Amino acid sequence: MYNPSEKRYEKMKYRRCGKSGVFLPEISLGLWHNFGNITPFGVQQSILRTAFDNGIVHFDLANNYGPPYGEAESNFGIHMDRDWKTHRDELFIATKAGYDMWNGPYGDHGSRKYLIASIDQSLKRMHLEYVDVFYHHRPDHYTPIEETMSALDYIVKSGKALYIGISNYGPEEAEKAIKILKQLGTPCLIEQPSYSLLNRWIENGLTDVLSNEGVGCIVYAPLQNGILSGKYLNGFPEDSRAVKDPRYLRKENISKSTIEKTARLKTIADARRQTLSQMSLQWVLNNNVVTSALIGASRPEQIVENIGAISGAPFTKEELDMIDKALL
Ligand SMILES: NC(=O)c1ccc[n+]([C@@H]2O[C@H](COP(=O)([O-])OP(=O)(O)OC[C@H]3O[C@@H](n4cnc5c(N)ncnc54)[C@H](OP(=O)(O)O)[C@@H]3O)[C@@H](O)[C@H]2O)c1
Repeated sequence: MYNPSEKRYEKMKYRRCGKSGVFLPEISLGLWHNFGNITPFGVQQSILRTAFDNGIVHFDLANNYGPPYGEAESNFGIHMDRDWKTHRDELFIATKAGYDMWNGPYGDHGSRKYLIASIDQSLKRMHLEYVDVFYHHRPDHYTPIEETMSALDYIVKSGKALYIGISNYGPEEAEKAIKILKQLGTPCLIEQPSYSLLNRWIENGLTDVLSNEGVGCIVYAPLQNGILSGKYLNGFPEDSRAVKDPRYLRKENISKSTIEKTARLKTIADARRQTLSQMSLQWVLNNNVVTSALIGASRPEQIVENIGAISGAPFTKEELDMIDKALL
């Protein structure tokens, strides 16, 4: 029997998501890795419980998180039944569709056919009546954007999702999607792009669009898949993602230059008396367009450490300049 901590709302800070009425925790938890069939159920449970006990009320999923595809949602459904049934209204749960999910022409991209079938499948797997936000996972150059947006609008109007999000959309695509959704009467709540000290693409136009349109921004992989924890500075630990589950992070893709930048950043974090993970998360949150940093965790202790990012000493101008220089 799980009794969530009474103190769960004491430490976490919450930010308004764009110009909506929704507030999100500064740190949110994603279930991309560590919730499939290669992670013991008890580990998954302790990660989710630790998150909620520390005020992380936003969980992010997608139809194809696993392995295998669909497994993270199915496992989440079991956790939901066991731990969260009486806390549904305290949770903000997201899922997505847009990448390959099932065989044939209707299990990928952004057609009305795919998106509506996918949300129905996700709700069944997660044992939910609705999700809080449903995302189109990536832009699709095959389907007219009007078709994709009208499918998202239908999903909200039919009660399967409360809000709509877009993910991995560039500035022009985002602007177009936001405009169409506004015309349809279902404003876009949020964009989910990647963003970290090692990956600053959103600063070239996307953040301006989101800020002008009043759309929130939750940034994924803020630790660059764990690289910005500093764990790869002296080799490849056996229990790290690059060794244990290298589907999307291969040892050979962690370059010498990335390691050198990470080492320089760690020196700055040490001087600030915080861990490199904490400094990296605090840095993305220092961008005032960012609503939440969407982390992953392979064990509960990482969540506890990472939450320290929200109480770090504010950055000085000198420190921010030093960080920029460390990245050159
Ligand atoms: N929309 C999209 O296209 C998209 C794409 C990717 C991700 N996402 C979302 O973003 C979420 C986060 O992505 P991510 O998992 O790549 O984020 P991340 O926060 O950059 O990396 C998380 C990983 O870093 C390691 N880590 C975290 N904290 C640590 C600490 N304090 N010390 C040492 N290692 C630490 C852990 O891996 P190990 O311990 O295993 O090394 C953990 O699983 C996903 O779950 C998903 O919800 C969305």
